[in-house]
Amino acid sequence: MENINFDYNYIKNILLHDDYKTDEKIRLKADEIRQKYYGKKVFARGLIEISNICHNDCYYCGIRKSNRNIRRYRLESDDILECCENGYNLGFRTFVLQSGEDFYFNDYNLCIIIDRIKEKYPDCAITLSLGERSYESYKVLKSAGADRYLLRHETADNEHYKKLHPYNMSLENRKQCLYNLKNLGYQTGAGFIVGSPYQTVENIISDLKFMQELNPEMIGIGPFIPHHDTVFRNYDAGNIQLTLKLLSIIRIMFPRVLLPATTALGTISPTGREQGIKAGCNVVMPNLSPLKFRKDYELYDNKICTGEESAQCIECLKKRIESVGYYLDMSRGDYIME
Ligand code: 5AD
Ligand code: FES
Repeated sequence: MENINFDYNYIKNILLHDDYKTDEKIRLKADEIRQKYYGKKVFARGLIEISNICHNDCYYCGIRKSNRNIRRYRLESDDILECCENGYNLGFRTFVLQSGEDFYFNDYNLCIIIDRIKEKYPDCAITLSLGERSYESYKVLKSAGADRYLLRHETADNEHYKKLHPYNMSLENRKQCLYNLKNLGYQTGAGFIVGSPYQTVENIISDLKFMQELNPEMIGIGPFIPHHDTVFRNYDAGNIQLTLKLLSIIRIMFPRVLLPATTALGTISPTGREQGIKAGCNVVMPNLSPLKFRKDYELYDNKICTGEESAQCIECLKKRIESVGYYLDMSRGDYIME
């Protein structure tokens, strides 16, 4: 890295201290690298939250199974197809199907849905974000036509992982799932929460090291935001500056990675996503879920865009992206291979 001695000690130093000049240098470097590979493009992904039913109980997450105060919903395959149609007409060429870990979505049911989407929209990419599944299941879904899979590792430190999740979840299995996805040829997304309870700078370094080993095509990070019905309701939200610095560091470490300016980033600050784009992000994920269920997919408090029509969401994002000198690109936006 020219002019920057980019080793882990240096990164730790950046993360621990706010120094305007250094932080700006990192940001500009990240921006330069992103532009080298992706120009001024910011790719759009249409997010469809297909179910908020979850058998897991992550301590930070608003749709965890112990939360009795939310209305649970699940979309039928016709509803999902309708979201895709709506999205396709708005120009989307990637659909992200995301849900809690809902046993209803077994391989059989999912294959029917993937099949129907691919048949109607063969020019679109399908990204799944459905949590931990078996190697066999990932394999079947890949054969059915899924192209990409998002599964954040959440934290790469074992002790920290145990503080964020119940005893029956393990980091080992999480990592295994990610390696399985990579081996099966999915464009694979990992990622972690910035400023989750008990997180240390060492933990973040472990996250970066793990991702260097995995070499994911996509990385999703966003600040922790407490949800009022979870174990972590009284913990502080993650820091936006730290998140932005990490986005730039990730862009420099993973030059061609697909890196979204997340909804969580837009939730902790009204200009969070614009700042994310300036820091090296090249993806946004507007919500295509049916309006009547938007508020029910509340992973954390005050989640934005829960009252907007999909068309409004995309218009708003388009303007935001242009306000910082980039433009919204509606193509599939696949990972650039070497
Ligand atoms: N704050 C921030 N991010 C969260 N996620 C879940 N709950 C929260 C929260 N309270 C993130 C997790 C998950 C992704 C879909 O949302 O990282 O993988
Ligand atoms: Fe559903 Fe964590 S609470 S996967």
